[in-house]
Amino acid sequence: MPKTDYDYIIIGSGIAGLNTGLLAREHGSVLVLTKGRIDDCNTRYAQGGIAAAIGPGDSPALHSQDTLAAGAGLCNREAVQVLTSQGPQSVSNLIQWGVPFDTSSGQISLGREGAHSMPRILHAGGDATGQHIEMTLASLVRESNVTVLEYSLATRLLVEGGAIRGVEALSSDSGQTGIFTGRTVVLATGGAGQLFRYTTNPEVATGDGVALGFEAGARVMDMEFYQFHPTALWLEGAPTFLLSEAMRGEGALLRDDTGRAFMVDYHPLADLAPRDIVSRAIADQVGQSASGRVYLDISHLPADMVKSRFPTIYRACLGYGVDITRQPIPVAPAAHYMMGGVKIDTWGRTNIQGLYACGEVACSGVHGANRLASNSLLDTLVFAQRLVASSLGRAPEQEELDNDRDMVVPLGSRPMVCASVPALGAEALRDLMWRNVGLSRHGSGLLQAARVLNIWLRTVPRATDRAGHELRNMVLLGRLMAEAALLRQESRGAHFREDFPQTSTEWEKHIVLVKEE
Ligand code: FAD
Ligand code: SIN
Repeated sequence: MPKTDYDYIIIGSGIAGLNTGLLAREHGSVLVLTKGRIDDCNTRYAQGGIAAAIGPGDSPALHSQDTLAAGAGLCNREAVQVLTSQGPQSVSNLIQWGVPFDTSSGQISLGREGAHSMPRILHAGGDATGQHIEMTLASLVRESNVTVLEYSLATRLLVEGGAIRGVEALSSDSGQTGIFTGRTVVLATGGAGQLFRYTTNPEVATGDGVALGFEAGARVMDMEFYQFHPTALWLEGAPTFLLSEAMRGEGALLRDDTGRAFMVDYHPLADLAPRDIVSRAIADQVGQSASGRVYLDISHLPADMVKSRFPTIYRACLGYGVDITRQPIPVAPAAHYMMGGVKIDTWGRTNIQGLYACGEVACSGVHGANRLASNSLLDTLVFAQRLVASSLGRAPEQEELDNDRDMVVPLGSRPMVCASVPALGAEALRDLMWRNVGLSRHGSGLLQAARVLNIWLRTVPRATDRAGHELRNMVLLGRLMAEAALLRQESRGAHFREDFPQTSTEWEKHIVLVKEE
């Protein structure tokens, strides 16, 4: 009989899952379940790099300051302090494991990105950082005693008496459902870009971990904060391929259709302003211009430098007929990163005993209302180390997970009345989310979305295959996002309400959604 009981069951094989697996294998048997190939994940597509305060003149204190400023008053300060002070050590582990970060004259090269006051972004293969990290970790895992089951979709968490007992999984190969038992389960399922019409995320990013956790009784926080990356390729027939913020870090400029660099009108940091500001400035410019187009232009920099620093982007754009060394690139914002997720403390613990979360699925509050560029890869590394320590009893006793100021809301039902309800399907969901729960929101659109999603949630068919489970999960996530966005009657970070454009001190708190008993 194949083994079904493990010390650690990890769901997901991006940087969070693989790194956790490599750390945990020293302490017990490890199973990694992943719903596609091992490298089907957001991590593989990461371009800009990984932030850490390792350069001359830089410090964890400066890195904290930038992270807190981007987070717009909602960062968990303790988590930020942990992230920035332990970041350099975590990055040095990656170097020891063999990730080939780019160097210049024997020193690690450090790039710059939006809202960072210092150059502090380590990158590999120019703009192929994620691919190098994923390849290195996947090959270490393959050589190790960690068991990896590809094409295995986690469909349910098994919880008894407030403690995790295992995971139910569906094999796409055999169509069989199996049960894996274990006392430590780690959600490392990544983000949810597939909820939106336009996204930089691959197909696997359907928010499964948040849905699994929520259904099992885990608390879910900050779901109204979803980051839209300002610059994705915007060409008829081309995918919404990411054009790294590192391009603007090297001097690329956003221009309107007359060629004017417009970001100076919006923020003192101009093209390197925080992402929410740049994204909304682009939307504003698109609305004002005759052509409805905005461009990212790097053609004024030396062609050889552009090709060697951004080889992936150069080749991808050339494939769609744009030579970035000569022409400006049409761009538009796209859904990119989920700041919210399963609520954890700074040791990766959820409110369910033995259930941990790490990476984009998790929410410790470290990113607040808006993540600072290149802090997410770092977040996965730092908090994986702490969750493994915690699973070994090396963390302080768990305190109450909710803060006094958190607003804890049971996800109730919205009235099942709605003027028109589109037929449920992934495309209809993506359109609804993009239109009503996107970059710019309004109470009326949010209420309409919450009602439609509520009806869909009640009527979505029982899932029997991967697509069915993913659709169910996406409807639930949409519902959580719309509800939180409706509740937060202010604008802050990535959450912008046309009907409440100001930031309010009354809202310096997190919205925590829990399942209604
Ligand atoms: P992922 O890497 O997405 O891995 C999730 C894993 O879970 C996948 O293996 C998936 O198949 C699996 N999974 C999901 N659901 C299930 C299920 N039900 N059952 C089994 N398996 C499941 N961040 C930075 O810091 N720097 C950057 O330069 C950067 N660039 C980016 C560029 C792009 C184009 C994108 C999309 C993101 C970028 N990010 C960047 C964000 C960063 O890549 C992600 O936040 C990070 O990689 C998330 O890692 P993760 O391990 O949490 O999730
Ligand atoms: C980018 O390269 O612009 C993405 C960086 C990030 O999302 O952190």
